[in-house]
Amino acid sequence: MNTPKLVLGIETSCDDTSLCLMRGETGSYKTRPTILSHRSFSQDDILKKWKGVVPEIAARAHLDKIPILIDIVFSETKISPEDIDLIGVTTHPGLLGPLLTGINLAKTLGMIFKKPIVSVNHLFAHLEAIHIDQEITYPYIGLIVSGGHSLYMKVSSPKDFEVLGSTIDDAAGEAFDKGGKLMGLDYPSGPMIDKMAKDGDPLKYEFPIGLKDSKDCRLSYSGVKTSLRTFHEKNQFKIDSQEILDQCASYQHAIVSALKLKMKYAIGDSKLPIVVGGGVACNSYLRSIFKESFKDVHFVTPKFCTDNGAMIANYALRTEDEAIAYPDHMDMDAKGRFINKKDFK
Ligand code: KG4
Ligand code: ZN
Repeated sequence: MNTPKLVLGIETSCDDTSLCLMRGETGSYKTRPTILSHRSFSQDDILKKWKGVVPEIAARAHLDKIPILIDIVFSETKISPEDIDLIGVTTHPGLLGPLLTGINLAKTLGMIFKKPIVSVNHLFAHLEAIHIDQEITYPYIGLIVSGGHSLYMKVSSPKDFEVLGSTIDDAAGEAFDKGGKLMGLDYPSGPMIDKMAKDGDPLKYEFPIGLKDSKDCRLSYSGVKTSLRTFHEKNQFKIDSQEILDQCASYQHAIVSALKLKMKYAIGDSKLPIVVGGGVACNSYLRSIFKESFKDVHFVTPKFCTDNGAMIANYALRTEDEAIAYPDHMDMDAKGRFINKKDFK
């Protein structure tokens, strides 16, 4: 066992500002880290008005909230920034303006207190969040389902991620959010569709599964969204009707059925465990269908599924040997993309 280290995790890649002070062993996935403070600010109420993320507004909201959250995490733990060993910050993929606000915070602290910084891949951190409170051995098949990405990966170590397949257009979370917008629901609509679908019939209406016959683990959600639009134009259900609950349940059924079908191709003949992470992994229907359909399936705990600082701190601890010391980390930059979806077409 190596000496536990104290890390500050910073997440600002999209519309959640989140910081976490965590203590844990570096490199290991066999021990659980301790969360000392984990504080977040969600921009959902600000962005509701725009029915989606506006990058400039999101970046400015991060700037407003960062000083407040920094103050809280250090004061409530009575830890001084001088005492931390390491900083982890999301540098990619994400929205450039929001990413830069977090990177600037990391660099400022790194410069003043001469601390090393780990540049964190947000997607890897989503999956590896499984190790915060569960033990899973490598290799495993990972499914990341978030607002911006949907991909299957084979994960052989905290640094060894092989992309098996991706969505070629919209992400699963985008399908929930855009579908919800069409039905007149607030942003983000995923949690609301999940809730409404509980009282609806998933088999009442038929929505298509993208790339159903492709026999690989690529996903496509543009067709299901268009089919919802066409359906909605012909059937304007009232927001408190049984029909809209059935519509939510049926639309969610199509999104989840695609994830289940394509997981079969991702896993192939292997008997590897499955790990599911990212915001959409909170979805209760996805959880129950996967648990019913696959033997060895593990979901990241809901509070670590949607964007959060704990997953960033956790991933920084596991990849601490890649930390960049001051002053070299002053060159650290943001990168919008991780993969090019067009490569999977
Ligand atoms: O991982 P995340 O917080 O942000 C990105 O990295 O994109 O994921 C946000 C996405 C949104 O699209 C939101 O609608 C979706 O996760 N989401 C859900 C649920 N909770 C969050 N989708 C379906 N059911 C849920 N319960
Ligand atoms: Zn995310």
